[in-house]
Amino acid sequence: MKGLTRTHSCGELTSSSVGTTAILNGWVNSSRDHGGLVFVDLRDRYGMTQVVLGGDLVEVAQALRSEDVVAIVGTVQSRPKDMVNDKMVTGSIEVMATSLHVLNRSKVLPFTLDEAEKANDELKLRYRYLHLRAPRMQNNLRVRHQAVQSVRTYLSGNDFLEVETPLLIKTTPEGARDYVVPSRVHPGQFYALPQSPQLYKQTLMISGVDRYFQLARCLRDEDLRADRQPEHTQIDLEMSFVEEEQVFALIEGLMATTFSQTLGIDLEAPFVRIRYEDAMDAYGSDKPDLRFGLQLQDVSDLASQGDFGIFNGAVEHGGVVKAVVAPGLAGFSRREIGELEDVAKLGGARGLAWMKVGDEENTGSFTKFFTPEKLGEIVQRCEARAGDLVLLVADGRHVANVSLGGVRLELARRLGYNEGGGYQFCWVHRFPLFEANGEGGWTAMHHMFTMPLAEHLDALTSDPGSVHAQLYDLVCNGVELGSGSIRIHRRDLQEQVFDTCGFSREEADAKFGWFLRALEYGAPPHGGIAIGLDRLVTLMVGGTSIRDVIAFPKTQKATNPLDESPSPVSPAQLDELGLLLDQKRQ
Ligand code: AMO
Repeated sequence: MKGLTRTHSCGELTSSSVGTTAILNGWVNSSRDHGGLVFVDLRDRYGMTQVVLGGDLVEVAQALRSEDVVAIVGTVQSRPKDMVNDKMVTGSIEVMATSLHVLNRSKVLPFTLDEAEKANDELKLRYRYLHLRAPRMQNNLRVRHQAVQSVRTYLSGNDFLEVETPLLIKTTPEGARDYVVPSRVHPGQFYALPQSPQLYKQTLMISGVDRYFQLARCLRDEDLRADRQPEHTQIDLEMSFVEEEQVFALIEGLMATTFSQTLGIDLEAPFVRIRYEDAMDAYGSDKPDLRFGLQLQDVSDLASQGDFGIFNGAVEHGGVVKAVVAPGLAGFSRREIGELEDVAKLGGARGLAWMKVGDEENTGSFTKFFTPEKLGEIVQRCEARAGDLVLLVADGRHVANVSLGGVRLELARRLGYNEGGGYQFCWVHRFPLFEANGEGGWTAMHHMFTMPLAEHLDALTSDPGSVHAQLYDLVCNGVELGSGSIRIHRRDLQEQVFDTCGFSREEADAKFGWFLRALEYGAPPHGGIAIGLDRLVTLMVGGTSIRDVIAFPKTQKATNPLDESPSPVSPAQLDELGLLLDQKRQ
């Protein structure tokens, strides 16, 4: 590189630089051989510059291949008028090369950067360094960086201290399996990798830190999806002496600042607040996409006034009949309605009733059991119009809501309602504290350190299912971006919650004794939240998977084709750790 260090990036030369001598370093994005002249588009992170190579340089230039790394020395000149490209910063100039130096060659790529999106996922991850060179991925990394800088500056400016918490810990439960690390010094003993810093951030409040944040790596052994990775990053924070509204205000400021500084977008705050039950009733989801309406309607009272056994039976058994209107879709075929029914069944529904709203009459799967007047009332309740398709599920309230919630999203996809529409944030709050575990017991809906609503404390032992908590989720466009709560700060209450979750005192003590002890030494009231950074940035760049915004993500099977992890360890390492492998499992 001696004497070849760049004087400019590939994204900065403009017409004001004409006449200057420039040295550029970068990758050959493409080259065009015009006989006596070779045109090379030279690329780096900052942009692309057209380089013209003639005379003695033609022969070497002709041998260049995509992704070779070169240094060129040359003079900046204006492009001929008909070759000016207004869309590029460097589009009015080119560099006439006086020398060309090949710094390294590239093999033929397994996929071209232009076509990277079409390559198979495994291949893209094996050659991640190539995929990351594509402008879209470079932009994703840039947006992530900018978002992180905004978060750090905003939180520091609001008195938060950035504190790192350990990676080798005693388990913190977040509902997934732990990744465990064997201890060499203590054979037979294991550390867990943190599913989140939950107990440590609470301990920092007990330590008097008052306001803590961390861009925390969290590790969870769970089934992977487009929005879940074994390793993810949280904007994790905790505050002392706060109530829910103060956490909301802080996060609204954080989101507004981050969106404005990163994307130049102004968000409207405060965000809408919706109680959990209301979200389920209106949208069939605890992470409602508010970019469109399509709200669910309760028609139980009307639907149980006909002779349709399925509707009547559901209502008699304490269930409901709910409906969603598909605007303008009365022309749907049986097959298309069948596809919607399949979606409803994923939510537990046994079927999907339907009615096509006409100018004169309404027809459908159940209409013969009703008088035209009664059907008219259902249509009116749903505010449906001629040409609409009304879809109904009769079942227990939860199943009816969840099933139609799925249908609602499917309709939005088919109608294109889920494209554009900006960023519609909301808070979903007042979740139940517990959910039935299917074995007659209870588990915490979020985690066990969540404070019940003050007015529900008495029901903690008598009626756990009715207890709601100071528990909230930050939701945007149907994505759960973050989750948090006001915490329990008293040992007796914490023990009561452990009891309800079926932990014996011994078990609770063995797992969380250290934390229960800390609560006894003047733990302040506190609360906080963790925002999934990967999900946030995915939303900001309009991506479809959090993999797009993580430099080195894992596959669906939790492998990394780039470094080929996980991989076996040597017998010597196993021996040192005192571990024997079960040969049958391999
Ligand atoms: P929770 O488990 O809800 O809460 O996680 C908070 C947020 O982190 C993101 N997230 C994930 N992102 C990618 N891959 C995953 N596997 C994954 N799991 C979670 C989501 C989620 O909303 N300690 C609590 C927070 C608190 O109470 O303060 C916690 O971890 O965006």
